[in-house]
Amino acid sequence: MAAIKLGALSALIGRSSRNNCVRAFSTVMSPPSKAVVYDQHGAPDKVTRLVEIAPVQVKENDVCVKMLAAPINPSDINRIEGVYPVRPQPPAVGGYEGVGQVYAVGNAVNSLSPGDLVIPFPPSFGTWQSYIVKDQSVWHKINKDTPKEYAATVTVNPLTAFAMLQDFVRLHPGDAIVQNGATSIVGQCIIQLALIQGVHSINIIRDRPGADEAKENLKKLGADQVFTESQLNLKNVKDMLGGLPEPALGFNCVGGNAASLVLKFLRNGGTMVTYGGMAKKPVTVSTSSFIFKDLSLKGFWLQKLMSTDKASECKNMIDELLNLMRDGKIKYEMELVPFNDFHSALDKALGKQGSRPKQVLTF
Ligand SMILES: NC(=O)c1ccc[n+]([C@@H]2O[C@H](COP(=O)([O-])OP(=O)(O)OC[C@H]3O[C@@H](n4cnc5c(N)ncnc54)[C@H](OP(=O)(O)O)[C@@H]3O)[C@@H](O)[C@H]2O)c1
Repeated sequence: MAAIKLGALSALIGRSSRNNCVRAFSTVMSPPSKAVVYDQHGAPDKVTRLVEIAPVQVKENDVCVKMLAAPINPSDINRIEGVYPVRPQPPAVGGYEGVGQVYAVGNAVNSLSPGDLVIPFPPSFGTWQSYIVKDQSVWHKINKDTPKEYAATVTVNPLTAFAMLQDFVRLHPGDAIVQNGATSIVGQCIIQLALIQGVHSINIIRDRPGADEAKENLKKLGADQVFTESQLNLKNVKDMLGGLPEPALGFNCVGGNAASLVLKFLRNGGTMVTYGGMAKKPVTVSTSSFIFKDLSLKGFWLQKLMSTDKASECKNMIDELLNLMRDGKIKYEMELVPFNDFHSALDKALGKQGSRPKQVLTF
């Protein structure tokens, strides 16, 4: 569908009574949209449905964006379930990040033009819809050569990896970090961003079918060591360091035993940062970890970071990440799924078909 500049087309209004489509779009309305909505919190596969949304007005400072791609992230699922701390009130459209192409702009918009590639920044609710109309201030223009699936997924997970590697412990080339949930997009980005800094990574994944292949894939990305949890069922996990230095920094997005394994790898005075809880199990820490190893436990939440004066720094980090993605220095596996197949993508994201790569909806 061709992009439309509202001002340029206003001359057409009233001239072409036969072309109802152009007349409708060329005034101040977006095209009709399709969206994934939920009317109440609950199990995402039960409460979500694909609906048609009527055209909305594009006001003078608004930009109408035709969405191209948007992922299904764990936090999207938690928002629908109603367990994420900040969430829209239902009825709501799902999704939190994505990428789109400017379709039409209001008369007062000068910074964006039809055809520009944009991402919502800071990310905001409701990206699972084919057209979005929002104020120009929420759209960040990016390089048109960016592959859409990377543009769609850069703001939540790669940015988290980037920020966490900077925020807690000053790392030097030759150092090592340890993490669990290493197959996640955050985990894969941590491996690659660490490698760029000359930092080694020790990675822990869960025991599951396909674990050997997952290990090989992470090693291809630059992981130094990759273990399944059961391989670390040892008295002293540090026997597995294989010549790497003891890490001062660890990342936990799983909880339970996988978090304890990260703690066991840390050197005296080390820090574990928890940023997710995929296993839905608490983090337990031995008394001796505090007394004899003086370990520190911290948390990270991107949404909090975005609400501070670091937001503009985050925008720069995103641009840097997109450069690395265009250069092929950061990559991760994704599965592109047509928007109309939303429910099959959701089933995969919910793990109903075993472990699957990140599901990215395409419009
Ligand atoms: N705090 C923040 O600001 C922030 C920001 C971004 C992301 N996060 C969190 O970071 C985590 C990773 O997000 P992502 O989008 O990168 O993940 P993702 O690409 O969607 O991958 C999901 C990851 O979770 C693992 N997993 C799924 N169920 C599990 C279970 N029951 N036990 C152990 N591991 C399990 C998967 O392992 P397999 O490969 O074995 O399936 C995979 O590594 C999530 O918890 C997310 O909420 C937090």
